[in-house]
Amino acid sequence: DKSGHKHFMAKEMAEQPAILKAALGFYSGLDSDTLELPEGIDFARTDRLIMVACGTAYYACQVAKYWFEKYAGLPVELDIASEYRYRDPVLGRDNMALFVSQSGETADTLAALRHVRPHVAQVVSVVNVLTSSIARESDIALPIHAGPEIGVASTKAFTAQLLVLAVLALEAGRARGFLSAEDYARLVEDLRSLPGFMAQALDREGEIERLTKMLSQARDVLFLGRGTMYPMAHEGALKLKEISYIHAEAYAAGELKHGPIALIDSDFPVIVFAPFDGLYDKTVSNMQEVMARQGEVLLISDPAGLKAAGEVPHSLQMPPVPELIAPIVYAVPAQLIAYHTALHRGTDVDQPRNLAKSVTVE
Ligand code: F6R
Repeated sequence: DKSGHKHFMAKEMAEQPAILKAALGFYSGLDSDTLELPEGIDFARTDRLIMVACGTAYYACQVAKYWFEKYAGLPVELDIASEYRYRDPVLGRDNMALFVSQSGETADTLAALRHVRPHVAQVVSVVNVLTSSIARESDIALPIHAGPEIGVASTKAFTAQLLVLAVLALEAGRARGFLSAEDYARLVEDLRSLPGFMAQALDREGEIERLTKMLSQARDVLFLGRGTMYPMAHEGALKLKEISYIHAEAYAAGELKHGPIALIDSDFPVIVFAPFDGLYDKTVSNMQEVMARQGEVLLISDPAGLKAAGEVPHSLQMPPVPELIAPIVYAVPAQLIAYHTALHRGTDVDQPRNLAKSVTVE
């Protein structure tokens, strides 16, 4: 049932504010000033976190790596499941392994879990399906409470995974004595503002629909970001390729000059995720290098960022959001850009060719 929407993907994107609100309720303490995880997750003892996932879930982990380092001082190792299995990772008895999977059945992620299980202190998973193999074979499975996701391109599961990972990072910071009480309280408040900002981001849909007319004619699209916006660039590129079949790539903004800038000409749209934060100036100077070569730039930023950038070919205004939740809120334009570009091109957004919702082959 698409509840009046044209596609499951549209319905699932629209559900995000409500889902995140409910998930926040699930992970809240008795008073609304604290978060709460199920009993037994031992961050105080953990000396290293190993995160493994595939696809969109991997990009959620990539964002979470910044959070665990910044808010919990916890060393993180991160890999794609299909690669992790075929290395010889050095594991320690005080390591915690964290697997993220919407379906909980992804073959490579499950195999990686079985591979590390005997060697680490704890295996934790973040899943949408609590009866799945990955959930059952973990010591602790944390539900994302996104409800069934039908669209092949993951949307609401991605942002709900990010929310649960943010809760984990803040609780790790608290358990490890890394975050001060004031910082913890402020960050929990930032997290609570998420559903409202998601709704504001979704309100930009009309403008995104217009902007994507230009993208739907492109052969290639480049996404750029720095910090937590770098995984967002990857997520934007993945969504666009999978449902519009346009070749899209993501680069860390600072890597541009190390090769890919050779591709830039007036036929090459470049989408830049750059909220007005401590990394903004650096990213915008990379964006100007693209503009100097006639690249068709679309800058996604907040009012302060758009003002500071001056004239840009295309821009999309986002609400000003706290740094912690910015990658979750900026996932919305990444999703809507892919969705509307695909609609302009007339592709099947819910059932893209060659793809399956659950990848149970290796
Ligand atoms: C992309 C997408 C895939 C999945 C990946 C992992 O939109 O949906 O990249 O994220 O196949 O699937 P799960 O999370 O079920 O392990």
